[in-house]
Amino acid sequence: MSAATPNSAAARDLAYCAHPYTNLATHQQTGPMVISRGEGIRVFDEAGNSYIEGLAGLWCTALGFSEPRLVEAAARGMRRLPFYHLFGGKAPEPTIELAEKLIALSPVPMSKVLFANSGSESNDTAIKLIWYYNNALGRPQKKKILSRQRAYHGVTVASASLTGLAANHRDFDLPLPRILHADCPHYWRYGLEGEDEAAFVRRLADNLEQLIEREGPETIAAMFVEPVMGAGGVIVPPKGYFAAIQPILERHGILLVADEVICGFGRTGNLWGSQTFDIRPDMITCAKALSSGYIPISALLISEPIWQAMVAESEEIGVFAHGYTYSGHPVAAEVALETLAIYAERDIVGHVRSVAPALQDGLRQLADHPLVGEARGVGLVGALELVSDKATKAPFPPNMGVGARVARQAEAHGLIVRALTGDIIAFAPPLIIGAADIEEMLARVTRALNDTLDELSRRA
Ligand SMILES: Cc1ncc(COP(=O)(O)O)c(C=O)c1O
Repeated sequence: MSAATPNSAAARDLAYCAHPYTNLATHQQTGPMVISRGEGIRVFDEAGNSYIEGLAGLWCTALGFSEPRLVEAAARGMRRLPFYHLFGGKAPEPTIELAEKLIALSPVPMSKVLFANSGSESNDTAIKLIWYYNNALGRPQKKKILSRQRAYHGVTVASASLTGLAANHRDFDLPLPRILHADCPHYWRYGLEGEDEAAFVRRLADNLEQLIEREGPETIAAMFVEPVMGAGGVIVPPKGYFAAIQPILERHGILLVADEVICGFGRTGNLWGSQTFDIRPDMITCAKALSSGYIPISALLISEPIWQAMVAESEEIGVFAHGYTYSGHPVAAEVALETLAIYAERDIVGHVRSVAPALQDGLRQLADHPLVGEARGVGLVGALELVSDKATKAPFPPNMGVGARVARQAEAHGLIVRALTGDIIAFAPPLIIGAADIEEMLARVTRALNDTLDELSRRA
């Protein structure tokens, strides 16, 4: 029902809801898209129109929108223990079980799990622990944190500082001092004329080493990386990138934090993005698919040396003074445990591997479309980057909103996708998607691209 009807959901949305990641001025004119229910990989708006959810909500509903076992797990958890916490040495049973499970599933040996409720919180927590660790080791000057241009690590004050996107900093008075942004590893966009992929990787590694030398390795504590950069544009690192940068970090005693918030739990065709790209992190953050997005929960996996530092500091200070009220919430833990059990029972990683070629090959066929500069991705995450000139890779002027137009046209064809900054159309469907629905999703986005092309040529 339109916003013109005073008591409609749309009118009440305009009256009462502030929307994240929305042009709030335009929204007053366009109004919301009110989503009423979900089924499998689809969601339905209030008028009953169905949409393939091409981004699994926000890269999270791996098991789709109607998994009854997760509903039952939540109900079971609610009935058994609707709230408890881990403060002061208490612990709900499902939370203990989930911590044990995550340590068992970790791609590298890890020691402990510290829970929170969002990717941002877990990344913030990781920064605090890195500072705590270096203070415990008597290195109070080793505190700077490296991130990368176009990284996305969240929106809290510290995690937004890690995020390497202009809109997350501008007029929020960010980034914080002590956060540094290294190069973005996107060969297609940032490779120089005549530079092959291997040379690009060498240049980025050299630049990183120079940045570290310039700042002083004794001042740099850690680097955060997404295995595949998500919200910054679905950027798959070039071959050899992590193999080139990890020895540099190790040489300078710089910890590596893998932000697995999108990549964790099968998205790239392995349980962890760190396995797909041979990353050996000292800490891992994960969220989203940990509960298939059904309930907020995130986790930070901590290596033994960092854990030992936490123990030493808490002994000296008298308490480890960190934790959120809802960290390790038993109902969220119950849902996450059920989610992980379903991934194992249904071999979700094997499924991702079997259907990934349908998405990846289909996207690459779209690289021939006049609007598409690059088609990229791995596993069940991918993107189309739109350009105004395929030969020069020149982007469209941002104010033309070409990516947003494609997303709008896609909605008219029953597909929800996300247009990221830079006119990049992102795909990360629920991991349960089948090959036929991938084909349907690609057919719908093709129609949206064609409609947008028509629209632009009529404007010209
Ligand atoms: C890689 C990555 N890290 C962190 C975050 C932040 O997570 P949240 O929105 O749960 O705070 C996101 C969110 O999309 C993400 O994609």
